[in-house]
Amino acid sequence: MRAGVVFWVVSAIALLTACGGVNQVPLDAPADAPLRIPELLEPTYDSEGVAHYDLSIGRSQHDYRRGTLTDTYSYNGLPVLGPTLLLRAGDSVVISVTNELDEVTTTHWHGADVPAEDDGGPHSLIEPGEAWVADFDVIQPAATLWYHPHAHGLTAEHVYRGAAGLIIIEDDNPAVAALPATYGVDDIPVILQDRDFTEDGQLDFAIDEGENGNLDGTITVNGTINPFVEVPQGLVRLRLLNGSQARIYRLGVEGAQMTKIASDGGYLASPVVLEELVLAPGDRAEIIVNVGTESASLVDRALGRVLELRPDASAVGTGVLPDKLTTIERIPDSEITVDRRFHMDDVRNFWEFDPTWAINGLQMDKSRIDVRVRFGATERWTLSAGEGQHVFHTHQTQFLILSINGEPPPPEDSGWEDSVWVNADREVVIVARFNTYVAEDIPYMFHCHILDHEDLGMMGQFLVIDE
Ligand code: C2O
Ligand code: CU
Ligand code: CU
Repeated sequence: MRAGVVFWVVSAIALLTACGGVNQVPLDAPADAPLRIPELLEPTYDSEGVAHYDLSIGRSQHDYRRGTLTDTYSYNGLPVLGPTLLLRAGDSVVISVTNELDEVTTTHWHGADVPAEDDGGPHSLIEPGEAWVADFDVIQPAATLWYHPHAHGLTAEHVYRGAAGLIIIEDDNPAVAALPATYGVDDIPVILQDRDFTEDGQLDFAIDEGENGNLDGTITVNGTINPFVEVPQGLVRLRLLNGSQARIYRLGVEGAQMTKIASDGGYLASPVVLEELVLAPGDRAEIIVNVGTESASLVDRALGRVLELRPDASAVGTGVLPDKLTTIERIPDSEITVDRRFHMDDVRNFWEFDPTWAINGLQMDKSRIDVRVRFGATERWTLSAGEGQHVFHTHQTQFLILSINGEPPPPEDSGWEDSVWVNADREVVIVARFNTYVAEDIPYMFHCHILDHEDLGMMGQFLVIDE
């Protein structure tokens, strides 16, 4: 057996014996539900060539096969989640979001480089019955992003109930033209979310104030429990999104090779063959799986099988993996003008019972600006943590990792990122440019993407000042 196979078999045995409370799917149990593929929302173009998209967030119901329909939130009336937005680099887009819930919410374009007033953060509240319109130019390269509500204190619950969707940006980079790219056929969205259900089949939302946030035992993929998807033999692309509240996945592929081709912000310089891929909340990764004549499975070290890829013998994919995907120009140290440190920790006083999650000792205050970045600056941020698991996410910009615990990042972590896993044993130094939009009125957010921590106050605000 290959080392990777041994690793996964050992892991599967370990989890079967160790974690009694987790409803993991053993690798030898059949996958029994066809994977839901969120519908694609292509734009309508107006006479000026502007791409228009309409979203509405509201209540819905989804059949999780829990003996009853489960109440959910979703976009555009889908049973759960939202349609996948297909954006093209260079387009001007207008997205309207109507709030059909009976409570306030927002919709944020996670990973998108957009003006602050179009970012959909906690300051862009949409009252029930109202609509909000974002308009921006797509100024970044091909990538897998996502959208989700971001009203402070409500983000975890709105996402948990099903409000989230993928954004795919396409561009005309010729190096990747031969990659599998037929949505839902050989280019498969994979939104990973762990969930718990009450006895009457409803979503059992909870905030866990602890170090790890709320971890649930049932893995859903695009809202499907124990799914399989039929794919052509040959190369298949999976667009992985960790849309979970708090769970960090350790993913592998059984029965085929896994090659990472893209991180949060787009393509890596070159494909990287991996045994294990760590995906923290908010993270995306695109992987290529070379499916043979037998099924291959995406598996998680703790939860077992996530998704079975079932080859359809009558279809052979035509995708080809190039040696080089794109050019990533490292940001030279000489360009860095500002250093900052962001320390993520529980800062409760000794007489307090519950954790107080904070960044640099402070909890989110919508009326306080924490950081003023000068427009055009290149900044180096050192991300560290005390207690707990954290995912540092910043709005507006994509960054490069300079080091993890003082070492240069491995090739799979050397692309553009907007979210990165940080804990006491994992100090990460990043570098980012702030040269696209000035934001002097409405701030951008930086925060922990473990949604429990975020809602409990582990968030701060920055402006981009032109002076
Ligand atoms: Cu995915 Cu500030 O968010
Ligand atoms: Cu974001
Ligand atoms: Cu955290």
